[in-house]
Amino acid sequence: MAVDPRVLTALPIAAARMQGTKRGVVSDPLAEKLLAGQTQLLQGVNTGYMAVRMKLGDELCLSQHKNGTTQVVSLGAGMDSRAFRLNLPGTRFFEVDMQALFELKQPLVADTPLRVESRHKVVGVIGEMDIGAALKAQGFDPSKPTTWLMEGLLPYLTVSATHNMAADVGALSAPGSALWGDDFSKTSVDRGMDFHGVPFESGFDDYDVMFRKVGFDDSKAYNMDGVNLDRHSGSVNVNPRYVVTPERARGREMCVMVRAFKTR
Ligand SMILES: C[S@@+](CC[C@H](N)C(=O)[O-])C[C@H]1O[C@@H](n2cnc3c(N)ncnc32)[C@H](O)[C@@H]1O
Repeated sequence: MAVDPRVLTALPIAAARMQGTKRGVVSDPLAEKLLAGQTQLLQGVNTGYMAVRMKLGDELCLSQHKNGTTQVVSLGAGMDSRAFRLNLPGTRFFEVDMQALFELKQPLVADTPLRVESRHKVVGVIGEMDIGAALKAQGFDPSKPTTWLMEGLLPYLTVSATHNMAADVGALSAPGSALWGDDFSKTSVDRGMDFHGVPFESGFDDYDVMFRKVGFDDSKAYNMDGVNLDRHSGSVNVNPRYVVTPERARGREMCVMVRAFKTR
């Protein structure tokens, strides 16, 4: 049976992390392995954007861990290497993705030691699966705070799948939880976008409102033009002047990210 094309979008991200590692922009020693031999994907990768994305997720996991959060869920995990790469002692790391992704990924990481306490594969299709039940079956504890990653996932979800997932994430998040994800504005996606031939399903101007409504009281969306990697410190600068409200995003093309915290 043919592999769902959405699964294959994980590979160019691994290619970008491999290229970024070679250029000294980021460090992901596993990226080359996770590219699964698809070296043709190294041509024309967007190393800069993927490096920013990788760092944003890393920094959120690490800062949350410092605050005592030891549960991470990577939604649409793809070739996420954080369970093998980030020093997150005591952490249970859940990767949610489709069966075909894990069939591709598992043999590549089989011999790689974990840097977290445990890694859990949660198989399903977001939009069709019961996310809460699938996570809990793998030992997820909704009474504990969680760091949620939605890196490179949101464009592939339909409007209703996105709303339902946001509601699930809200319901499964104890105080202290945080999330991060990236997508494009509604106008951008409505005009037609794809990644390696896989069309995007939805873009939103109101991710900040969407996650505030499900309990993330400190929720902001940003135009990614104001989010950059500081080459000297190696960390990400998020310029507060690039916060976008639904009103400011409406009718404009832009790449956006949402970062939100449930403080109470
Ligand atoms: C562009 S990749 C991003 C992978 C990873 N988060 C990263 O940034 O390296 C998108 C991933 O989302 C997964 N995905 C897309 N739609 C999905 C869905 N409805 N349910 C589960 N996984 C999905 C794909 O299988 C793929 O692994």
